[in-house]
Amino acid sequence: MQYLTNKRVLLGVTGSIAAYKAAELIRRLRDVGAEVRVVVTDGAKAFVTPLTFQALSGSPVHENLLDKEAEAAMGHIELARWADVILIAPASANSLAGLAQGRADELLNAVCLASDVPLAIAPAMNKHMWADPATQENVRLLAQRGALFIGPDSGEQACGDVGEGRMADSDDIISRLTELFTVGSLSGLTVLITAGPTREALDPVRYLSNHSSGKMGYALAEAAVEAGANVILISGPVSLETPDRVTRINVESAADMEVAVKEQITATDIFVATAAVADYRPVTAQQDKIKKKEDRLTLELEKNTDILAMVKADYAKIFCVGFAAETQDLESYARAKLKQKNIEMIAANLVGSVAAKTAGTFNSDTNELNVYWQGGDLKLELGSKTKLARQLIALIAQRYSLYEANDYNNSNVISLKNN
Ligand code: PMT
Repeated sequence: MQYLTNKRVLLGVTGSIAAYKAAELIRRLRDVGAEVRVVVTDGAKAFVTPLTFQALSGSPVHENLLDKEAEAAMGHIELARWADVILIAPASANSLAGLAQGRADELLNAVCLASDVPLAIAPAMNKHMWADPATQENVRLLAQRGALFIGPDSGEQACGDVGEGRMADSDDIISRLTELFTVGSLSGLTVLITAGPTREALDPVRYLSNHSSGKMGYALAEAAVEAGANVILISGPVSLETPDRVTRINVESAADMEVAVKEQITATDIFVATAAVADYRPVTAQQDKIKKKEDRLTLELEKNTDILAMVKADYAKIFCVGFAAETQDLESYARAKLKQKNIEMIAANLVGSVAAKTAGTFNSDTNELNVYWQGGDLKLELGSKTKLARQLIALIAQRYSLYEANDYNNSNVISLKNN
């Protein structure tokens, strides 16, 4: 299980003998799935070279506030925006004083001022420096402003003293960081999502397809990443940008989608089938363009594999969420699909003329969903697809944890964050 999957940790290393421990910390953070960027103070560079941190983090190390090149590429504002959390480890007595005073004389202080993400601090200094009232006052001020202090631990110090001031262990730091992120999320899980339409070729220039824009599936991919999942998006032809931190695989036809899903499915924990997959394809796609000769032309179609039903039949353990696009009788059709495909949940939406008057659904930026599972249901009111996607992902996370705990028949929904 990777606890910090997709989380962006900005690690500030300051001038303390414990700076060497930051090297091990970077490695452990990456082991648990975090992306790490490092900012060093001048003091830190006296103990460990930035090159060490660059090699371990896999990214250039940020050193100077007034660096023309860095400001153009990733300056203090971009770094502040990039991070999900700022971790200062080790934090020296001097760095605590600078933070408490709100100074912006070094890159690390400036990034902290410019950022509104959680700040975690792992102090490391001599026991007398830690116990000094000035340091303690700085710690109190920073904690009051919301900083999370991790450690320091007690023990033998580099200077020979024994007492409080050693930097906390990497494992302790990581477990406290993990607590900062929502419990009940999809952290460490792999979510496979299909989105968009498929195209079933008639000849080299024509195809059968539908109005799906991919917006609902892409919003779900984004929301699943926010919830900490590793997300793979198998997409039919759409004109949308790939969401940040999502692996996208492009396909054309239902048969292509089937192959791509089979290739990804073994590593999947949760499968969400948002794609509007063509149920039928032409028996033969003509090699050459079909010529306009007859008054009537009959197309012979054959069934495509039902990808969602196939996944559940072949990989019973995967938590499967389907979608149902209906023009009428939403609940009865959706519940019938839930049963036929033997899946855990289905999100139903209206399409066609009725929907056009309200949510829109196909290609619209809004939608409304009725989610059904055995013994329960939840209506997600009309809203942007981004908002609905977050709500649906929160519901999936909740139902998945019951599923994993073998308590799936519990139909309770505790509460959904309404963001
Ligand atoms: O893309 P947008 O413009 O944002 O629109 C979103 C949407 C309307 C496409 C989406 O919300 C939606 O409802 N997607 C499913 C549409 C659909 O094809 O429903 P269905 O009732 O035909 O299929 C039921 C389920 O089986 C779906 O999860 C579908 O992905 C899956 N299926 C269907 C056929 C098939 N051969 N393989 C499948 O996996």
